[in-house]
Amino acid sequence: MSTTLHLLSALLFSYYLLFPTASELCNPSDKKVLLAIKEAFNDPYVLISWKPDTDCCVEWNNVECDETTHRITSVTVVVGDLPGQIPAAIGNLPYLETLRLHKQANLTGPIPYAITKLKNLKYLDLTWNNLTGPVPSFLSKLQNLVYLHLSFNNLSGSIPSSLSTLRPLSSLRLDRNKLTGTIPASLSAIKGNGLYLILSHNGLTGEIPASFKDTDFGQVDVSRNKLKGDISMFFGPNKTTQIMDFSRNQFEFDMTKLEVYNELISLDLNHNKIYGSFPKAMTELQYLQIFNVSYNRLCGQIPVGGRLQSFDYTTYFHNRCLCGAPLNVTCS
Ligand SMILES: *[C@@H]1O[C@H](CO)[C@@H](O)[C@H](O)[C@H]1NC(C)=O
Ligand SMILES: *[C@@H]1O[C@H](CO)[C@@H](O)[C@H](O)[C@H]1NC(C)=O
Ligand SMILES: *[C@@H]1O[C@H](CO)[C@@H](O)[C@H](O)[C@H]1NC(C)=O
Ligand SMILES: *[C@@H]1O[C@H](CO)[C@@H](O)[C@H](O)[C@H]1NC(C)=O
Ligand SMILES: *[C@@H]1O[C@H](CO)[C@@H](O)[C@H](O)[C@H]1NC(C)=O
Ligand SMILES: *[C@@H]1O[C@H](CO)[C@@H](O)[C@H](O)[C@H]1NC(C)=O
Repeated sequence: MSTTLHLLSALLFSYYLLFPTASELCNPSDKKVLLAIKEAFNDPYVLISWKPDTDCCVEWNNVECDETTHRITSVTVVVGDLPGQIPAAIGNLPYLETLRLHKQANLTGPIPYAITKLKNLKYLDLTWNNLTGPVPSFLSKLQNLVYLHLSFNNLSGSIPSSLSTLRPLSSLRLDRNKLTGTIPASLSAIKGNGLYLILSHNGLTGEIPASFKDTDFGQVDVSRNKLKGDISMFFGPNKTTQIMDFSRNQFEFDMTKLEVYNELISLDLNHNKIYGSFPKAMTELQYLQIFNVSYNRLCGQIPVGGRLQSFDYTTYFHNRCLCGAPLNVTCS
């Protein structure tokens, strides 16, 4: 049995040596595009396995081929240091579903328009590079996008409202850039799928759109911006968002009226201008694990019960006149 197998593989191997191109799985058009991308980067070390005389579906790193069509579905470079700009040739891989260029410190310049040709793209991760220019509004042409992750770059300008037309979007991460302007009200149109909205560490201004009242986010992080006003639209009996971070902004509203709900696990409100006192229902939050209201203008007694005394005093310190455990201040 095993001798037969050996004979068979020996035969196959010599066939491959004789007719290498006949057995190549790599789609010739995709291969040409990938080699053009490699040439555009002009770097001898990264993408070293991309060689014209080998099969891109078999021997190349950083790419994946579809098992039946053998078209390129994924380009992923997470180590190495691709220099220069994202080449326009990337738009010529029509079956691409995943594009991940991550932690390429020397990858600079804008996100190219050619990317809009990738009609099958579901996962776009260009995080931890040195990209500049805007978050382009033309990204809305990628109507199958589920993940749009552009964190840790030098992107500037405002968040385009056109992103709201991305119906399948479930995760939008634009944190740690240099974005300015307001959060578009249209983002509330991305409904019902628990959008992860991560916009922290930017220069966003203005108020949270009132239209967010009708949206149930999966997770919200708008910390370290310059946002003002109220956040009560994120709260209510029908909300299920478990993790929210509003810290280090200029939010100014009456905490007493917050309609907290049972699903809350993490709520960070530190360093704002929040006034009023705790809603009594705070003691009913049995899953609350991270809670911080320090550096605000809160007053009154910290209600006794639930998880509220399980946090240390730094959860509550630097407020106007909070009292009761775990603070050392007794209520008069
Ligand atoms: C980026 O490019 C500069 C100049 O070519 C080079 O000195 C540096 O090592 C590169 N940085 C990384 C992280 O590759
Ligand atoms: C961007 O480039 C600067 C300067 O070359 C470098 O210090 C920094 O680490 C880079 N940022 C990222 C996220 O790679
Ligand atoms: C990106 O911003 C960082 C920090 O402000 C800076 O050091 C770096 O040079 C910038 N990179 C580019 C490509 O503008
Ligand atoms: C909560 O959902 C119920 C049922 O869908 C609906 O009738 C009610 O108006 C909602 N309440 C709020 C405050 O949105
Ligand atoms: C609350 O936030 C303040 C300010 O960032 C920080 O100093 C403190 O350690 C935090 N406390 C907890 C319990 O997270
Ligand atoms: C609370 O009071 C006790 C007794 O006076 C003191 O030892 C402790 O340092 C105080 N703790 C804080 C956080 O102020």
